[in-house]
Amino acid sequence: MASSNADLVELTLNSPAKINVFLEVLGKRNDGFHELETVMLQTSFCDHMHFRASREAEIELTLSPDSDAEAAAAFPLDGSNLIIRAARLLQQDAGCTSGVRIEVQKRIPAEAGLAGGSSNAATTLLGLNRMWNLGYQTSQLHQLAAQLGSDINFFIEGCRAGVCRGRGEQVEAVPESLLLHIVAARPAQGNSTPSVFSQTTLPTVESQKTAAPLLAALQSSDYQLVEQHTFNRLTKAACVSNPGMQQLLTLIESQFGCPAFMSGSGSTCFFYAPTKELAIENARRLKELGVPFSAAMQC
Ligand code: C5P
Repeated sequence: MASSNADLVELTLNSPAKINVFLEVLGKRNDGFHELETVMLQTSFCDHMHFRASREAEIELTLSPDSDAEAAAAFPLDGSNLIIRAARLLQQDAGCTSGVRIEVQKRIPAEAGLAGGSSNAATTLLGLNRMWNLGYQTSQLHQLAAQLGSDINFFIEGCRAGVCRGRGEQVEAVPESLLLHIVAARPAQGNSTPSVFSQTTLPTVESQKTAAPLLAALQSSDYQLVEQHTFNRLTKAACVSNPGMQQLLTLIESQFGCPAFMSGSGSTCFFYAPTKELAIENARRLKELGVPFSAAMQC
């Protein structure tokens, strides 16, 4: 909700979570990153970010008291937070002397494969570009995003669905993808992205999967076709280092009788539902079963 465009003093933006419905690792690069082909979907599950302009060049970050307690506990408020790093990078790049106070209502859990931190960083770049009246083009914001991490560019692109390549930062929007209802759930323990990547056995070139069948399924009206082609190469390694995640995948499959998958490097697991109502109902059932985090999402 912006005030007048000429002098934008306040801005409130959603900062959405993503889900990976396909992720293949194509190889390890010399810079230590892995070459990927992944399909990301923006979800309806969001943090909320409130920006208030300030005259001093300072960047201040606070948490809203309405934040989810566990997500807030894992949210640093110092210079290590990607929001502060993104704001400083934009400030320096633009030679800008304005500052900002940012309050985040945090809901997206950390170490979850939902890209909460990356989404916050992208929303910061997009929001401050408007608030500080910098006039950066999307391509310029993409360059800054890629300096900060691999998942930020997806949110800069702003598409509902995208195929991401390279280390994840090269985004190609997928037009008109099928609206999906999912239930996402996270066990108590999160996953470390670097350790999941380093413990993953790379597929041979012959056994590499491609995103093509999943992308074709997204153009259909059949969510079960999407389910059939949902895949994540990192799942096996993540289950070895996080037994709670394997237990959660097994629990979902036995309780709901459908396949369960992992998003990103985990530890969020997810499964599909035919309707929004059933997704909400199944998320509630998981909470009753003692799962620490569960939420119905549309993507
Ligand atoms: O870029 P981002 O900060 O999300 O990456 C975190 C870590 O995950 C990297 O330092 C790297 O160890 C691992 N990673 C990777 N290959 C990718 C993306 C991330 O090995 N494509």
